[in-house]
Amino acid sequence: MTDLHDQRILVLDFGGQTTQLIARRVRESGVYCEIHPWDISDQVVREFQPRGVILSGGPESVIQEGSPTIPSAVLGLDVPILGICYGMQAMVHQLGGEVQAQAAHSEFGHARVTLQDRARLFDGLQDHSSDGKAQLDVWMSHGDRVEQLPEGFTLIGTSANAPGAIIANEAAGRYGIQFHPEVTHTTQGAEILRRFVLDICQCDGLWTPDNIIDDAVARVQETVGADEVILALSGGVDSSVVAALLHKAIGKQLTCVFVDNGLLRLHEGDQVMQTFADNMGVHVIRVNAQDRFMEALAGVTDPEAKRKIIGNLFVEIFEEEAAKLKNAKWLAQGTIYPDVIESAASTSGSAHLIKSHHNVGGLPSEMRLKLVEPLRELFKDEVRTIGVDLGLPPIMVQRHPFPGPGLGVRILGEVKKEYADILREADAIFINALLRHDLYNKVSQAFTVFLPIKSVGVTGDGRRYDYVVALRAVETIDFMTARAAQLPWDFLDEVSRTICNSIPRISRVTYDISSKPPATIEWE
Ligand code: XMP
Repeated sequence: MTDLHDQRILVLDFGGQTTQLIARRVRESGVYCEIHPWDISDQVVREFQPRGVILSGGPESVIQEGSPTIPSAVLGLDVPILGICYGMQAMVHQLGGEVQAQAAHSEFGHARVTLQDRARLFDGLQDHSSDGKAQLDVWMSHGDRVEQLPEGFTLIGTSANAPGAIIANEAAGRYGIQFHPEVTHTTQGAEILRRFVLDICQCDGLWTPDNIIDDAVARVQETVGADEVILALSGGVDSSVVAALLHKAIGKQLTCVFVDNGLLRLHEGDQVMQTFADNMGVHVIRVNAQDRFMEALAGVTDPEAKRKIIGNLFVEIFEEEAAKLKNAKWLAQGTIYPDVIESAASTSGSAHLIKSHHNVGGLPSEMRLKLVEPLRELFKDEVRTIGVDLGLPPIMVQRHPFPGPGLGVRILGEVKKEYADILREADAIFINALLRHDLYNKVSQAFTVFLPIKSVGVTGDGRRYDYVVALRAVETIDFMTARAAQLPWDFLDEVSRTICNSIPRISRVTYDISSKPPATIEWE
């Protein structure tokens, strides 16, 4: 059987905001790729054996002393290279061309590139035309510009502020583009990346959902053999897809532990049991630990302390259950590719702790279980796609992210069951309204926050003095930055009325319009 990973593209990261998007577009074209930092060793580059290399954008300037460079092994490989923005400038600089700082001619946002010559990567692509020349709508973000091409390169496209917007050395399969093909604002961007990996690098498009599932199933079977595996099932997308995948791979050798901590959304516990235990026949142990969590959280108001209590108690309960499963040798986890990239970045010291994220299923340190992480290579959208193919309900797979500590970080200050019950009702009204109005998939994450303060209201029956909730809906690509979604006013009005009319303990509904930064997405 062909290994899906044999034909692969190396994406070298120069610190660009959208490097992960490049990798996602490559995968969508059906080709496996990995992101590695620009300073990987020549040996790693050679061992990787890529069919092609994509150099990402980045915040620095190649003219500055000590700026990131392309590893010499990459330039020594006989495979196609596509340099994007900083990646193109680094290529020009290192191959003997010239890049100049042109602060007065910076280009950010929409721009139009005119094709001056032909190149395989662009032939036939056109959004507009001018004087018989094809033009492309692109997204630019650069200060420096290419002034002189390296030997062997020709000028293919120009924009108002980037005389070298597209350059190519067709014979060597080397291309440079000043704009960002990975963002949707570049209309033909996905097609350019598709052509690069399929036509120029000659990959076959093996990376398809069916093949990914077959490969993951085979690898799990090979790894765990006849051993038993346990999985902490949270009901979130990642652990749900791991459960479905492992069930397909090893059936009854899998036991899932589902801990109901009392901080789940409305009916969530029952839905998890129905989907997995009832419909799919997965072996799931449900632990009703609501009271234990509420007792542990009583009187605690500090957000980080709450996170730690919830995370530690989860591990404690999970260990108790695991201890009962004497034959389990493996712990399955829903680690996905962005987690792998981020933890690589944090070990290199560049990450900053803002909130400690306790992912449900964090490896209890003293448990002697080996790890199986079948989603380690996958982006979230790939996880979702294979989840649906594995038979999970689309609504479960398309769900917005839900933090490990659940409603624990959406009830400000002390967590009480009374507050959680009120919040669940309000949140269900908001989320169902988003679904009904076809807005749910237009925002990246939406939820309700419980504020333990009282406010005066007036209803037909008289005065009300009760709690406040805040609605939060954000748009984001990477959850590192976000902006409040501009939900229609009428919609917010409807949700607010429904909440106040049907939940007597709520007197007021607010909408959070803060961006991240300076706010965070969750309130705690
Ligand atoms: P913030 O609030 O930091 O959230 O802007 C960014 C994303 O992370 C999620 N989040 C968490 N996820 N455990 C998790 O598993 C946590 O403690 C946690 N805190 C925040 C948040 O929902 C958003 O998607």
